[in-house]
Amino acid sequence: ALCIQDDPHVKVMMAGSTLRKVKSRSWKKQRHFRLLEDGMTIWYKSRWAGRGHSTFSITEVEAVREGHQSEVLLSIAEEFPADLCFTLVFHGRQGNLDLVAESTEEAQAWIQGVRKLIHKTQTMDEKERLDQWVWDWFNKADKNKDGKMNFKEVRKLLKMMNVEMNEEHALHLFTMADKSESGSLEIEQFVHFYKMLTQRDEVWKVFQDFSGDGEKLMLEELENFLRTEQQEGEQSAQHAQELTDRYEPSESAKKQGAMTFDGFQMYLCSQEGSIFKPEHRQLHQDMSQPLSHYFISSSHNTYLLENQLRGHSSLEAYIKALKRGCRCVEVDCWDGSDGEPVVYHGHTLTSKILFKDVISTLKEYAFKVSNFPVILSLENHCSVEQQTVMAQHLSQILGDTLLTTLVDGLIPQQLPSPQELKGKILLKAKKIGGLEVCLDETLTDEVSDEEEMANGECSDDPPKSKLSRELSDLVVYCKSVHFHGFEHARLHGKCYEMSSFSESKAKKLAKEAGTDFVQYNTKQMSRIYPSGLRTDSSNYNPQEMWNVGCQIVALNFQTAGLEMDLNDGLFRQNGCCGYVLKPDFMRDGSTQFSPEKPDGKQGYKPLRLSIQVMSGQQLPKVNQKEGSIVDPLVRVEIYGVPQDQAREETSHINNNGFNPVWNETLNFVIHTPELALVRFVVEDYDKASRNDFMGQFTLPFTCLQAGYRHIHLLSRDGTAIPPSSLFVNISISELT
Ligand SMILES: *[C@@H]1O[C@H](CO)[C@@H](O)[C@H](O)[C@H]1NC(C)=O
Ligand SMILES: *[C@@H]1O[C@H](CO)[C@@H](O)[C@H](O)[C@H]1NC(C)=O
Repeated sequence: ALCIQDDPHVKVMMAGSTLRKVKSRSWKKQRHFRLLEDGMTIWYKSRWAGRGHSTFSITEVEAVREGHQSEVLLSIAEEFPADLCFTLVFHGRQGNLDLVAESTEEAQAWIQGVRKLIHKTQTMDEKERLDQWVWDWFNKADKNKDGKMNFKEVRKLLKMMNVEMNEEHALHLFTMADKSESGSLEIEQFVHFYKMLTQRDEVWKVFQDFSGDGEKLMLEELENFLRTEQQEGEQSAQHAQELTDRYEPSESAKKQGAMTFDGFQMYLCSQEGSIFKPEHRQLHQDMSQPLSHYFISSSHNTYLLENQLRGHSSLEAYIKALKRGCRCVEVDCWDGSDGEPVVYHGHTLTSKILFKDVISTLKEYAFKVSNFPVILSLENHCSVEQQTVMAQHLSQILGDTLLTTLVDGLIPQQLPSPQELKGKILLKAKKIGGLEVCLDETLTDEVSDEEEMANGECSDDPPKSKLSRELSDLVVYCKSVHFHGFEHARLHGKCYEMSSFSESKAKKLAKEAGTDFVQYNTKQMSRIYPSGLRTDSSNYNPQEMWNVGCQIVALNFQTAGLEMDLNDGLFRQNGCCGYVLKPDFMRDGSTQFSPEKPDGKQGYKPLRLSIQVMSGQQLPKVNQKEGSIVDPLVRVEIYGVPQDQAREETSHINNNGFNPVWNETLNFVIHTPELALVRFVVEDYDKASRNDFMGQFTLPFTCLQAGYRHIHLLSRDGTAIPPSSLFVNISISELT
């Protein structure tokens, strides 16, 4: 389907190569790999497996890493040089595929070839994407690989695709698509058949309402639609022209300045037609305010890939978190053998990794998806000797990347900004004394023992002997201190001092002293962590902590579910850079905002949100059992200040995951729109037990676009599942 078959690297992939698949030091087996004719599916088998084989699609691959960039490949580094090795990293939770080629040329062909194909899939437009999706299914179902399917096979395939249809209707369309009257469809004919089957009546109706002749939208008709339904105001005229240029497939319609139904549907299914404001996907917020004015995407127990009792500690977990935009990672350090500190969940059966390897990984991956600073939160259980080793590793491995001095040489009255700290890693840990000592040192080059003693004693730090001076010196803007109440912080708190709160402590403070907490967080940062009782690595609701302005609300990134959906949802805005500017009423030190009483806020203006849930498209199958068809329902959940917490759902539609139509309107009142998140969840209704999760999408209320919009659904672990979507009609108005 993709036209890059002439590329020399892709040609090598199509011819096929023998590669070693490596699972561990001892498990290394040869497999024959090749790229199938569709240019998208990679097929592989062992020589003696008979007909057995495996396949995966390029769309499942997130990235290719070159050389020894996985734990497994590192473990065989002496046996196989780096230029033969590479790793395919998959989206979501599927494990990596570590491979070794027989020659450098072959390794390069696969590395470059797969990268090109990934790039191609990422830059496909909606139409190509849908075509690809249908191709993938066709290839999966075409077991004997003859490139043809009769009606019986097509019927079976449609069932696999979650398409339930009227048999007579389907047979009629099948006959129409079978132009050669051969009784079977080739792939292009199947794509055509599929498109006839997925005709969207509700979109057609909207089109008819605005089209004068029922066949096309002239520019002014499209402009009228954008102004009245999509609520685009001023920009409508210019936007109508741009949309026609971008989405209209027919050249003759374009010449007339018109949009056909195909173009209209293409626009509605595109990113621009989606529910998320395109300009909020980009970096668009002021990044020059103090760090304490931002919510920061933060992970807890970053080293764990699974649960806390026996899970696997892995460098991969750091890579995954950083790639997801996380800007505060946690390192739990303990004394290791041979004087090398290790990272793992102390006193449990979790496996161990070397501290220095974690730091090297951090150096490599910290700034791949965002340039803004990374905070390294140190949970230090080491002896003074190994702390000094840690300090040496940090300085040597990170070099200039590690921030070790004040940005402007002055004792700060407020924290520096993400902008000023671009490309820097900040250490958050205990420190002997304050920044004043730091400054003295740079001036006098020497501190007497007495001074050190004095500083050590008057702070909350552990006795000085427990802390390595070298490590302490690397802490600048994120000094860990104990929390002694808001009053104490008002009088004595320094902007570079930060405290950690357990979820229950933070929850209690938020409830009892919300306004104090909001004020405290305008100047100092707070870090919230999950209760130690959550040994299954479950998460708490981060919204309650964001409501009082806590910046570092650390979650177990490895645990999928509602809480991570909220985290991904909040940080989806502002270019996914890991920093979101708090609303203005949470940045002013004398703010009177209380999440418990949103109507007391200056400029309080509640909004009415009305969501007409119209239809669903190609919803994912939850239960792969043959013959099972879903009964989908849509629930809209609002997260925000306590008064805004709400949920409403549609009724369920029996036996239709393919093109269910609900046409039900759900209404909400939002008191603090600046803090609200909207989550759309699709579930398979079950009368007897809990409903099954099918897909979701979460976004900040402020990023909602009004009008007719598609919501592109995500799987439980946050990866895209095209072409599954919801079609909704959204209106937002002031409450009168
Ligand atoms: C959806 O509901 C609205 C209002 O109740 C109604 O006017 C419209 O005809 C319905 N559309 C469909 C496709 O059922
Ligand atoms: C969509 O919402 C708008 C505004 O509430 C309304 O005027 C319009 O009739 C709705 N569309 C349909 C098909 O119900």
